[in-house]
Amino acid sequence: MLDLFADAEPWQEPLAPGATILRRFALARAPALMAGIAQVATVAPFRHMITPGGYTMSVAMTNCGELGWATNARGYLYSPVDPLSSQPWPPMPEAFTALCHEAAVAAGYPDFRPDACLINRYAPGARLSLHQDKDEPDLRAPIVSVSLGLPAVFQFGGLRRNDPLKRLLLEHGDVVVWGGESRLFYHGIQPLKPGDHPLTGEYRYNLTFRQASYNE
Ligand code: SIN
Ligand code: FE2
Repeated sequence: MLDLFADAEPWQEPLAPGATILRRFALARAPALMAGIAQVATVAPFRHMITPGGYTMSVAMTNCGELGWATNARGYLYSPVDPLSSQPWPPMPEAFTALCHEAAVAAGYPDFRPDACLINRYAPGARLSLHQDKDEPDLRAPIVSVSLGLPAVFQFGGLRRNDPLKRLLLEHGDVVVWGGESRLFYHGIQPLKPGDHPLTGEYRYNLTFRQASYNE
């Protein structure tokens, strides 16, 4: 397919108060980010976490950074160790830290210092139902979300679960940043459509950078 935007410079689209989409912002670094994902996954493999309600998530996940997000019988938590190995999560690859910082600056959050990066892998059919990112204690810090590989429909709503949803296609290299007024807005990913991406094959990957500790 002819991609009219293949050589375009990244551009910015406002999404909501405090939220913006940096289109194609991660495109140039995508191969380095994918290499980072592969490296993390050799230490902390992708796994389908089981929710406290006993449901197996369709998205496969792993983490890097000082803290990682995981589920256990009592709920969701950030932990410095991978529950699969009881070892620390692998450090954030340099390409991750650099890209996240540049995106946060571009979106107006120059002081964002993530200590956790959740890595999601979507196979065809995988989805993430509508939720809030509310396990982080310091809601002054935004979320920086990087999309790689196959496109997916992102839903972005409001503070209430039944607020109207915007639906937008997130494509390879797109970065969404939300914070401030929209930090707790509901969001989700509709079931991934099958496809074949030159860099990621049959998958979509998503990195979400978070500050998961409370720093004065
Ligand atoms: C998330 O909500 O944590 C991930 C969103 C995405 O995969 O784009
Ligand atoms: Fe989320």
